[in-house]
Amino acid sequence: MQGNRYPVRVWDLGVRVFHWSLLVLLTGSWLTGTSEDDWMEVHQWLGISVLTLVLSRVAWGFVGSETARFGHFIRGRRAVVTYLRGVFSFRVEHNRVGHNPAGGWSVLLLLGLLVAQAVTGLFSNDDVLFDGPLSGWAGKGLSDVITGVHYFLFNVLWVAIAVHIVAVLAYLVFKRDNLITPMITGVKSYKEPVVAPRLHSPWWAALILVLIFAVLVWGLGQAT
Ligand code: HEM
Repeated sequence: MQGNRYPVRVWDLGVRVFHWSLLVLLTGSWLTGTSEDDWMEVHQWLGISVLTLVLSRVAWGFVGSETARFGHFIRGRRAVVTYLRGVFSFRVEHNRVGHNPAGGWSVLLLLGLLVAQAVTGLFSNDDVLFDGPLSGWAGKGLSDVITGVHYFLFNVLWVAIAVHIVAVLAYLVFKRDNLITPMITGVKSYKEPVVAPRLHSPWWAALILVLIFAVLVWGLGQAT
């Protein structure tokens, strides 16, 4: 069998740093959120960092590289259904650049869950020592309800992430399509020539990230 021969850079550095930072920050959030010791201050900053990352990724979805844009990977129902039929017939795609139509919607779902998880955290309290920076706005009753939602969403999020990881592994095993290496190196090897997507400088992504972080920290400082 001949190897793949057409390497193309499909993911910009911004998307890749976003993705793997998310994994690290979420693991940290989980450990600090469930620890018996008091790590809530760190947990809060990890949550604000997750929110910064996700809001930056949403902005990048409008102004970023071609494969990062929502307009590139959010497709209509028909495209999703046609795609899924192909998946279950184990047809192998050789030339897709970027997220597939089903994966595109799962990206939106994950981003939405992450925003909801981080925002509810801002309004939560732990009944003992810690009050989220916006919990005072909600008042104790509502803050308690939102804390419940924060715990519940945490479980939904981990199920969604588990499905995400299983799907990526299924592509590797059943379709012989390695999606993981491109998410690390940015480069995917194709069996036939494809048009390389336009990728933007990671400095723009970094600028957006810093601006969003500054606005969030300033806004939360004003609110508390
Ligand atoms: C070991 C763990 C993980 C692996 C191996 C993995 C793998 C991948 C791969 C291969 C893609 C690209 C899919 C494609 O080519 O269409 C991807 C995208 C994505 N993953 Fe993961 N993932 C992991 C953990 C996570 C976690 C913890 C999250 C958090 C919610 C997450 C959220 C996302 C998102 C939002 C995207 C879309 C990236 C973008 O367009 O910016 N992943 N992941």
